[in-house]
Amino acid sequence: MKSTEITSLNKKFQGENPETILEYFIKEFGQDAALSSSLGAEDQVLTNMILNIDKSANIFTLDTGRLHPETYDVMDATNLKYGIKINVFFPKNDDVEKLYETQGINGHFESIENRKNCCGIRKMEPLKRALKPLKVWVTGLRAAQSVTRTDMPVVEYDENFEVIKVNPIINWSEDDVWNYIKSNNVPYNKLHDQGFPSIGCAPCTRAVAKGADIRSGRWWWENPEHKECGLHAK
Ligand code: ADX
Ligand code: SF4
Repeated sequence: MKSTEITSLNKKFQGENPETILEYFIKEFGQDAALSSSLGAEDQVLTNMILNIDKSANIFTLDTGRLHPETYDVMDATNLKYGIKINVFFPKNDDVEKLYETQGINGHFESIENRKNCCGIRKMEPLKRALKPLKVWVTGLRAAQSVTRTDMPVVEYDENFEVIKVNPIINWSEDDVWNYIKSNNVPYNKLHDQGFPSIGCAPCTRAVAKGADIRSGRWWWENPEHKECGLHAK
């Protein structure tokens, strides 16, 4: 897609509600558009909105093999509530076995390089595989989540994965997310009630104090500018 088309889509969607944005991409691209869901609060909002538009919409998750039990619980609850089966992409078993051979179970704590190896094998390769047949990648990113996300637009072209990336709730606040969840009875990860505003893999996510930086519990041993696993790197 040309950059002029991206610019005009951003103009078209300026100030629009997420449902309108989602409707456009789902109607226009069908199964070639998909939401990548981490089963976190933002993605649960989008799941509810998307399934209201199309019951058979494409939603996938990356199961790194290191997720919290609560994440599997909300995945199950979501599948049951909506009568769907979220598509799951697992890492390649050979790669995980090699990773274990070279850096053990929790080698990702030892260096940024090890951490990136782990994210590369458990998240990036499966994401690449998931996005390969797609034209549109819908995410639950919000600008307020991180210093690395403040300038993200609603629509952009992702050069790494060669897809149109759509961030329908990029301008939403945390309150907007929770108001939507409560008023629409959307299932959510119970870790959110235990001090986890942002949830990733179990060993790399911890609870944060009330009012603390939303992503300070993710890869907490690293500096904020390193805190992207590559999924949303520029
Ligand atoms: S991350 O890059 O730090 O892990 P974050 O947890 O903030 O990302 O989530 C941002 C968006 O990335 C989510 O809204 C979702 O679209 C996508 N995402 C993150 N983790 C996953 C996952 N395990 N499976 C699918 N999508 C994911
Ligand atoms: Fe590995 Fe942690 Fe990255 Fe998950 S977040 S893939 S456990 S380094």
